[in-house]
Amino acid sequence: MKILGIETSCDETSVAVYRAGEGILAHRIYSQTALHAEYGGVVPELASRDHVRKLLPMLAELLGEAGLRGTRPDGLAYTAGPGLAGALLVGAALGRSLAWAWGVPAVSVHHMEAHLLAPLLEDRRPAFPFLALLVSGGHTMLVAVERPGSYRVIGETLDDAVGEAFDKTASLLGLGYPGGPALERLAGSGQPGRFDFPRPMVDRPGLDFSFSGLKTYAANTLRTQRGADDVDPGLQADVARAFQDAVVDTLAIKCRRALRETGLARLIVAGGVGANQALRHRLQAMARDEGAELYYPRMEYCTDNGAMIAFAGCLRFAAGERADLGFNVRARWPLEELGAMDIDLARYLPRESEQG
Ligand code: KG4
Ligand code: ZN
Repeated sequence: MKILGIETSCDETSVAVYRAGEGILAHRIYSQTALHAEYGGVVPELASRDHVRKLLPMLAELLGEAGLRGTRPDGLAYTAGPGLAGALLVGAALGRSLAWAWGVPAVSVHHMEAHLLAPLLEDRRPAFPFLALLVSGGHTMLVAVERPGSYRVIGETLDDAVGEAFDKTASLLGLGYPGGPALERLAGSGQPGRFDFPRPMVDRPGLDFSFSGLKTYAANTLRTQRGADDVDPGLQADVARAFQDAVVDTLAIKCRRALRETGLARLIVAGGVGANQALRHRLQAMARDEGAELYYPRMEYCTDNGAMIAFAGCLRFAAGERADLGFNVRARWPLEELGAMDIDLARYLPRESEQG
């Protein structure tokens, strides 16, 4: 079973072919970052138009590389939500039309489910059940994953997503968009402990997050320090360091609490902020302390990508799901509405690579 996956929920255009029991046959990702950089964030209308421009040529290349030119996949999976409605519609309309023209079934995929399942594409993969920390530009969630398709959201952000907080704080510091990687680099030269930022919501019970206050804290720190001393070459880096330390610490505290409360012993991290090395080191140390195992997808499968859509779509096909002929997308789509998948998972996982 070969499944073609299409991802256009935000600012990455990505396509992939996944073969059940084997793995990813071909994968293409095009990031629109440069297009949105001058606006300091994703402009939805520009994102949709660029997906329209890129998607078909990328698909043609992909099908050639996957050995599918002149033939067709067995099914087509596209991201139907959550995300930007216009951007989602580009992938859904093309995916649904191609499936109809080829006479193959289509299935709509939940973007966050795909992120949650991405670590299963690796040789070192978590067994179920596990805890998932999803940290991207649009989402911050802790999810108890019972089995494929069975998800319980046990913590969420009440305001900004972590990636969004990184981007806004980076912008205050005069760094470009997206700001996460640039802020991490700057924090590397910052002096730890010069500023002590709050760890939001760790003193009260529960697993929810709030990150918008940290950006304000950073803005106030910059303002008062600048007033106090004009020549302070380390200020930017020290603020970046304090901000990152506060975010990383807060995430680690909540993950530890979630592991204890659920009794789970495996933690996966997915989404763009999962690229942050300080976060990885901190979570690794926390997991070691707790006797838990930590798993990451490789970077290519951590940020938005078509591979995870093709894979999640493959499992949804295996569970017997099919999309109707409408171009249905959902900008909002609670993860908990998904149904558990009654499948023999081992049959659909990738084969272990030789390097294993
Ligand atoms: O998952 P992703 O690629 O896209 C979605 O938001 O769906 O995540 C992008 C987010 C951006 O906010 C970016 O600044 C952040 O992930 N990010 C990072 C790092 N790399 C990417 N944040 C902190 N440190 C990083 N190294
Ligand atoms: Zn995403």
